[in-house]
Amino acid sequence: MANTLGIVKPDGVRRKLVGKIISRIENDGLIIRGLKVLKLSKTEAQKFYAVHEGKPFFNSLIEFMTSGPIVVMVIGGHGAIERWRDLMGATDPAKAKYNTIRREFATSVEKNVVHGSDGPETAKTEIAFFFKENEILPKE
Ligand code: RTP
Ligand code: MG
Repeated sequence: MANTLGIVKPDGVRRKLVGKIISRIENDGLIIRGLKVLKLSKTEAQKFYAVHEGKPFFNSLIEFMTSGPIVVMVIGGHGAIERWRDLMGATDPAKAKYNTIRREFATSVEKNVVHGSDGPETAKTEIAFFFKENEILPKE
């Protein structure tokens, strides 16, 4: 059993895609173990995406991620990290497989609707960034 962090980015919330995205997660057999809606400050967004600091798209990414509310969720299940990234599709929607969230809903490589942790270590730190232990349903 694994947990991963999912985010519906500001474009997804603005376009009222939250329900559709959560349906895809649940239909895949994954479990929503934690859920909240919030707006990132600039400092928080810079910290969350610190790994991309200095890249050409960094400032634009921070602008985008602070442009409106986001939905953050702890997604759990067997192989949750991989399975959630499979549901999301490739970063660039033009390269994402059919039937993935990004292929169907993303409008650009930046405004790509969702985020997912990329490995066990990042999942752990990214979940702890948004959730206290008692805000996450225990694994069964
Ligand atoms: P994420 O971290 O959001 O789940 O996305 P990812 O792993 O698929 O992609 P990553 O390389 O970590 O990039 C983080 C986010 O930065 C924006 N981006 N823009 N303009 C660009 O070339 C560019 N490249 C990346 C996207 O919002 C991407 O999801
Ligand atoms: Mg990433």
